[in-house]
Amino acid sequence: MRLDRLLCEMNKGARSRVKEYIRQGLVTVDGVVVRDPGRRVGDGECVTLQGEEVIFKKYEYYMLNKPGGVVSATRDNVSQTVLELLPKGRRQGLFPVGRLDKDTEGLLLVTNDGELAHRLLSPGRHVDKVYLAGLVKPLEEARIRCLEQGVDIGEEKPTLPARVEILEPALIRLTIHEGKYHQVKRMLQAVGNEVLTLKRIGFGGLALDPSLAPGESRELTEEEVTRLHES
Ligand code: URA
Repeated sequence: MRLDRLLCEMNKGARSRVKEYIRQGLVTVDGVVVRDPGRRVGDGECVTLQGEEVIFKKYEYYMLNKPGGVVSATRDNVSQTVLELLPKGRRQGLFPVGRLDKDTEGLLLVTNDGELAHRLLSPGRHVDKVYLAGLVKPLEEARIRCLEQGVDIGEEKPTLPARVEILEPALIRLTIHEGKYHQVKRMLQAVGNEVLTLKRIGFGGLALDPSLAPGESRELTEEEVTRLHES
């Protein structure tokens, strides 16, 4: 990759700005000042800008604790987007993996790895999604059985069997393996109940980091990225 492109991709400035840095002698490759923006750099070469190493990462993966009131989109004319909550030095091309409703909180993955996102969202993959749902009223045994067997939410087929755990009379942990539009709300509606609050706490083998307050994010660890690839 060209030196100027690498610096741009790692968010060190627009192309014209990083070219200027290079011409001013602020950039080194393996300890030698390089003034040619088109210099090719490969794996294993150490690039610095103003004495600080610039590590090239092709992909970035963030876990965000999405707060309510924010939209799962890259841009929106009215509401704040999940991307606006990420740290300033993030790279270009990030997007949320799937969507949570505006009023839903919790675990949202944000990345620039399109291939992984595609696999995680592919309907045939049945990636686990775990939600805490606060309900308008307690869920009766018979309704739990319905959710566990699959319910009609107006799609071609009933939902896949879900796992339901009762945490409090009107608070459940629900594990589903699909990601249809408003799926949890529609499932609870199908059994005569209603979701009042919804928070995702698990996705593809990842658990929401309890140290993240709503609106906070952190990069995934390597182990978490591997787990996602294997989910
Ligand atoms: N199901 C819903 O109804 N809403 C969400 O945001 C996610 C799953």
